Amino acid sequence: MRLASPYLAFGAALLSWAAALPAVAATAKQAVLLPGAPPATVIATIGNGTPKVTAKVDATAAVFRPDPALVALGRRAFFDVRLSMPRGQSCASCHDPARAFSATLPHDTPGVTQGSRPGHFSLRNPPSLLYVRYVPRRHFYQDDDAPAASPFGGLFADGRADTLAEQVRGPLLEPNEMNNGSPDRLLRNVNATELAPALAAQFGPAVRKDPEAMLRALGAALQAYMQSDEMAPFTSRFDDYLRHRTPLTPQETRGLALFKNPDKGNCMSCHTLSDTASRPERSLFTDFGYDAIAVPRNRALPANRDPRHFDNGLCDTARRLRWPEPQQWCGYLRTPGLRNVAVRQRFMHNGVFTTLRDAVAFYNTRTIDPGKWYAGGKVFDDVPAAYRDNINVNSPPMNRKPGMPAALTEDEIDDIVAFLRTLTDAAYVGAMVDAVPKPQGKR
Ligand code: HEC
Ligand code: HEC
Repeated sequence: MRLASPYLAFGAALLSWAAALPAVAATAKQAVLLPGAPPATVIATIGNGTPKVTAKVDATAAVFRPDPALVALGRRAFFDVRLSMPRGQSCASCHDPARAFSATLPHDTPGVTQGSRPGHFSLRNPPSLLYVRYVPRRHFYQDDDAPAASPFGGLFADGRADTLAEQVRGPLLEPNEMNNGSPDRLLRNVNATELAPALAAQFGPAVRKDPEAMLRALGAALQAYMQSDEMAPFTSRFDDYLRHRTPLTPQETRGLALFKNPDKGNCMSCHTLSDTASRPERSLFTDFGYDAIAVPRNRALPANRDPRHFDNGLCDTARRLRWPEPQQWCGYLRTPGLRNVAVRQRFMHNGVFTTLRDAVAFYNTRTIDPGKWYAGGKVFDDVPAAYRDNINVNSPPMNRKPGMPAALTEDEIDDIVAFLRTLTDAAYVGAMVDAVPKPQGKR
């Protein structure tokens, strides 16, 4: 394969954590966790290769300069409905550009997307792909006040893919998604389109013969597209507020304060922001960490017809990567960024909530009013009994016990929702699902 593109060279360098990088200190192992960012110092290797690093990843240090020709090729591949079996589904079918690259779902949806074959559903609810370029590679990091190192980064809700280029194998080959069967069959499908000569022109003629080379080429092109500035617009009203101090409304301002307040919403402890920094990369609304907030089981999911089926999240990845005590991560899912969350039709990894207000209110009364959230009032019904201890019962507002007052009032929940709507990029303001709905029968 020709290594003409800096992005392929980058991908190749990442195959080895330490060797490929210029030695800053001959002894310290290093890892680049975000493209262009200075390498992080690796102090340990967890399991079979996940680095433990000494510093938080700094998104403002990332540099994304994908080759424009590769971006254009990736964009073409992203919208190409011939890359599925049967033909008809593209990446954009589930990551709708009109909905900030999250899913537009039919009326009778169970809450997750359907694959290229009717009746075959994704196991999870697709996130927006805007800002996905900031998701760092998998790593462990121990914060000053944390008792132990925790995992961060990796793509998908369970971190099972390490890079965007690697991740594309998932949807392309997954039987419930684009269903290309095998790398071999995918190669034949791509070879039947004019994408094949275009990819060969970028990556060399081998891509038309070698299925793995074709997957790498598609991965590099799609990654370049997802890393382009087009996929990280930073044009929301909140960005105007950060950059130019364009005021928010009084209700949105209250919502922001509640979102930050550790005794009220406490949302910022996981959905990170910095409203004093003008750089919007400091406000991606996630620390890329994982948590177990135990959202209700979505009984409409086809996979959940089997009562023994559970989506255990990060521990599946932890087992595969041989992290110690993998079961401690069962129920953990990656904290999603909340930019453009107000255009979504379904919320949480399993699409269980149909309104943004419910997604916020859930935190407030999860254990105080379990009957409102869990079928039959049985709390944490989507986490197997063996893993209940993993569930976060300490972070406000989720630290309440039955009978205790909730951290937020109904009006304060509305304020937070109003604030979350300011995170919508300009192009999607018209796609926001609804205004803050009034809770019925209250106030
Ligand atoms: C059938 C629907 C479907 C199709 C088609 C699809 N995706 Fe997805 N995508 C999903 C779902 C569902 C998830 C969440 C999966 C998970 O977390 O396990 C996802 C997750 C992702 C993620 C991870 C985002 C994150 O924050 O971790 C990326 C990147 C992505 N998709 C890119 C693509 C690309 C590129 C294509 C085309 C090659 C594609 N998807 C095609 C449904 C789809
Ligand atoms: C302890 C960490 C933590 C705290 C605190 C927290 N969240 Fe979350 N949030 C998560 C995780 C993890 C998920 C994903 C859960 C899932 O998919 O099942 C999530 C998901 C969400 C979603 C759904 C996003 C989507 O795209 O589906 C919204 C909305 C949300 N959080 C808002 C909030 C608000 C508002 C607060 C404060 C009231 C808050 N969160 C507090 C960790 C946290």
